[in-house]
Amino acid sequence: MATPGAAIGIRARGVRRVFPGAVTALDGVDLDVAPGELVAVLGPSGCGKSTLLRLLAGLDRPDGGTLELEGAAEPGALACVFQDAHLLPWRSVVANVALPLELARVARPERLRRARAAVEEVGLADAALRYPAELSGGMRMRVSLARAVVTRPRLLLLDEPFAALDEITRQRLDDQLRALHADRAMTVVFVTHSIAEAAYLADRALVLSSRPARVVVEHTLDLPRERTSRLRAEARFARELGVLMQGLERSGA
Ligand SMILES: Nc1ncnc2c1ncn2[C@@H]1O[C@H](COP(=O)(O)OP(=O)(O)OP(=O)(O)O)[C@@H](O)[C@H]1O
Ligand SMILES: [Mg+2]
Repeated sequence: MATPGAAIGIRARGVRRVFPGAVTALDGVDLDVAPGELVAVLGPSGCGKSTLLRLLAGLDRPDGGTLELEGAAEPGALACVFQDAHLLPWRSVVANVALPLELARVARPERLRRARAAVEEVGLADAALRYPAELSGGMRMRVSLARAVVTRPRLLLLDEPFAALDEITRQRLDDQLRALHADRAMTVVFVTHSIAEAAYLADRALVLSSRPARVVVEHTLDLPRERTSRLRAEARFARELGVLMQGLERSGA
């Protein structure tokens, strides 16, 4: 049994997903993610990254192999963030963030307190009463992040969440996500196209092959736990980018 409140570990063996029309998206995916790890998933366009994330989220089922996520079926254990922030336009920032707590029937004073704390954590305290139309793309994504973590999920799955943002905003959000992860017992799986983002964010990066996807490279990043923007200009960061680039080239990208 998983410990209540503990981060969720993932174990996949030989996972396969075939879509109608004989499109094999995943075949033979073996994957281990330790509880509390922050893992980035890279891979060529169309290789099956989103398919894998949807399986992990329980939004879809594998056609073969085994997928074990201990304790993920418990309410609120799992949260997802997608490229689109998907905010409700008629609700303020804080009311958007409070939504998962409302659905979980948390009493109003408690949910407002928790939603405000999450909004503050992503640096949006001053915008708490604004509406989505009044926010920048980066701010909207921070609301989406706050809404995802407000239930204290033990597994957070993100599918290219910051891909549409400018570089500086994206780097700030990378820092924010690392800070959220550091403060919580939470496993994070992050799909990205960006080698630099994977290297900066993750403890470990996985590279998937072109379709059908399997894990072809696993690389633990040889970088300090504390990541700051200065690191991006250092030689050791460039070395890690090189390793991931080579992995991606080998994957058939
Ligand atoms: N619901 C579906 N029905 C049929 N085919 C699908 C479905 N979902 C995905 N596919 C196919 O599975 C393959 C993998 O798709 P997926 O979206 O997982 O790739 P991806 O790695 O996330 O791509 P991208 O980098 O563009 O986001 C593609 O060939 C896609 O067309
Ligand atoms: Mg995708």
